[in-house]
Amino acid sequence: MIEMTENTRVAIVGATGYAGVELNTILARHAHATIVAAYSSEQFSIEALTAAKPDVVFLATPNEVSAELAPAILALGVRVVDLSGAFRLRDPQLYPQWYGFAHETPKLLDEAVYGLTEWCNGELKNARIVANPGCYPTSVLLALRPLMYLIDRTQAVICDSKSGVSGAGKKSDLAFSFSELFGNFKAYGVGQHRHEPEIRQGLRLGDRATLVFVPHLLPTVRGILSTIHVGFTHAMSDEEVSKLYAEAYDEAPFVRVLPAGQLPELKNVVNTPRCDIGFTLLQGGRRAVIVSVIDNLLKGAASQAVQNFNRMCGWAETEGLV
Ligand SMILES: NC(=O)c1ccc[n+]([C@@H]2O[C@H](COP(=O)([O-])OP(=O)(O)OC[C@H]3O[C@@H](n4cnc5c(N)ncnc54)[C@H](OP(=O)(O)O)[C@@H]3O)[C@@H](O)[C@H]2O)c1
Repeated sequence: MIEMTENTRVAIVGATGYAGVELNTILARHAHATIVAAYSSEQFSIEALTAAKPDVVFLATPNEVSAELAPAILALGVRVVDLSGAFRLRDPQLYPQWYGFAHETPKLLDEAVYGLTEWCNGELKNARIVANPGCYPTSVLLALRPLMYLIDRTQAVICDSKSGVSGAGKKSDLAFSFSELFGNFKAYGVGQHRHEPEIRQGLRLGDRATLVFVPHLLPTVRGILSTIHVGFTHAMSDEEVSKLYAEAYDEAPFVRVLPAGQLPELKNVVNTPRCDIGFTLLQGGRRAVIVSVIDNLLKGAASQAVQNFNRMCGWAETEGLV
């Protein structure tokens, strides 16, 4: 059948998780993807995956599971889009400290394409393995990358990020229970969150510049709002900042930058594959407060993974997502 041969055969490992369910939904309506297998932890085996003959495997699995499975899947000649953090950091030495395990395949850290889609060029086309960015880093990096070379690195970059509870996955834990969360709001993991080195890497901050990343848990299911405070090396006008954002994102189907002074809200992006960004300049344009919002399960996970998949396979970037 002509239609089948034109499609890319995809498999989802971790299809019963929060991100995996979103992947299922998107890929099921994708005009050029055929889901040939979808696994929970109990259903999965490498033999079953081999028999399904996928072209691309999405790993929506815990970090350690992805770190183990990706090399085995690549060895089958199958491409991988990994939604975990197992291949996001370039430096293998960071893994024991931030992820709690030693990385067994450091060469793949060099090879993996960091899939912040809007900042990838042709490299996704030939990628064997894509490290899909973390949800908090997606919200922060999309907001700051266009202004990266203006950032005054002698001042702290402060990222005050709030996430809905689905960011923690479906696991059950007292801290994520309804009675702990409802009517509550709290910061957590300051100086210890594994997305901190990813943000540092993505902004090329090196070891010395101060990055203060404060994650918070919102009493809501989905969505991330990051409030970012930065100083610039010189005064910027609204028009200059807007121009930098326009150059970065005018052609990007899923990033919308609001006019200067208008700040985005969670409700505008929840259940969408979009990131909305707004900014307000302070101190005569020497500082900015930038607000960025995404749905953590979509632009922060599954829809960005499919954007990357579309670029890997040459399908329209928006396929399955609009
Ligand atoms: N949640 C988010 O907002 C978000 C955003 C960006 C990235 N991520 C990353 O995406 C990955 C999935 O996150 P999630 O929130 O969807 O997690 P989740 O809800 O906890 O789901 C985890 C999935 O992995 C499966 N799994 C666990 N161990 C496995 C194994 N040994 N072999 C095969 N499958 C296994 C689980 O199957 P069972 O149903 O059988 O347990 C489940 O389908 C994680 O690495 C996470 O860090 C999540």
